[in-house]
Amino acid sequence: MFQINENYLKLPGSYLFSTIGKKVKEYANAHKDKEIIRLGIGDVTLPLAPVVIQALHSAVDEMGKAETFKGYAPELGYEFLRQAIVDHDYKKRGAAIEIDEVFISDGAKSDSGNIGDIFGLENKVAVCDPVYPVYIDSNAMSGRTGNYVEAAGKWDKVIYMPCTAETNFAPELPKETPDMIYLCFPNNPTGSTITKPELQKWVDYALKVGAVIIYDAAYEAYISEDNVPHTIYECKGAEACAIELRSFSKNAGFTGTRLGFTVVPKALTCNGVSLNSLWARRHGTKFNGAPYIIQKAGAAVYTEEGQKQTKEQVAYYMNNAKIIYNGLKAAGYSVSGGVNAPYIWLRTPGKMTSWEFFDFLLEKANVVGTPGSGFGPSGEGYFRLTAFGSYENTKKAMERIQSI
Ligand code: MLT
Repeated sequence: MFQINENYLKLPGSYLFSTIGKKVKEYANAHKDKEIIRLGIGDVTLPLAPVVIQALHSAVDEMGKAETFKGYAPELGYEFLRQAIVDHDYKKRGAAIEIDEVFISDGAKSDSGNIGDIFGLENKVAVCDPVYPVYIDSNAMSGRTGNYVEAAGKWDKVIYMPCTAETNFAPELPKETPDMIYLCFPNNPTGSTITKPELQKWVDYALKVGAVIIYDAAYEAYISEDNVPHTIYECKGAEACAIELRSFSKNAGFTGTRLGFTVVPKALTCNGVSLNSLWARRHGTKFNGAPYIIQKAGAAVYTEEGQKQTKEQVAYYMNNAKIIYNGLKAAGYSVSGGVNAPYIWLRTPGKMTSWEFFDFLLEKANVVGTPGSGFGPSGEGYFRLTAFGSYENTKKAMERIQSI
């Protein structure tokens, strides 16, 4: 008789955004007259930039001709895209990342879930609390997190690093030594950031204790302040202890198009074994590459026109972030984030739990957000709104929230 991976049975409930989606659908079905504004999941609303659309069209035409047709993509991704990434995202920032350290994928969500494949199951995982649920759930699926303790809302083998108002929503170095440290800056869900010297402390710590940092920089394009690092490889020694995850979803609106990449430096080793080789082996075996047309579209993002057009999109969302931040402040909420990130993190009013506030906001303002507790126990009493809606809906949502 076959057996299943019983780790899946330990997972509480469904994936956060599936739960929210179900709840909103139920509400919408029962209240067909209501116009619901969705500021929950961080999904973009602007159409793809014209330069991206052009690249897609011409790549589709290439696929229709024998001379230019492409089959399987090269294992690590097309060189034209990896070179653009190296030049724009790393060389420009003084980071000596090379083309064979960049692995093109179908997005940072898959990579953040899959990266655990190359690590031992005995590794102790440290995460920020609150945290993007994929880091925890994927480690739980592979059996690295122990058991879920319902009362605490925590896994018993995971090191939680609380990110609270007292710590400016940034983690402190953990007391217990971890083997794998997940960091995400600008942060999802709190929208917080840390400075380069602060990130350097994490790199120094990881090098000292022999830990690996899995650094999710999916929201890098939203950084507006000078002292915030755009990549962990701006820090000295990071190439020997850090893997970086990047996405085209938030900087160029590829949530429905799917494209991302992971950087695994060759200097990152464990007992003489190169993690770059392990990830290459994993990538080659379990992944057949992002489609040519999508990689062409990704390369268009790095052209001069592409940079201009996508930066305009980011600015549009950041204007929404400002509207949300100021709107909530004016309504008396305690608010953070939204300056270097498209997420605004607010304290729920009147001691409401995160889910109580979710229901309250849905019923009274027909606005959907994300309950902070869905991201971990330290998120209880908090709520996340995303700036990825349209300008009109964002304004309307704030007017509604201010009037309840
Ligand atoms: C979020 O809302 O946290 C993100 O959209 C999730 C994701 O990027 O997968």
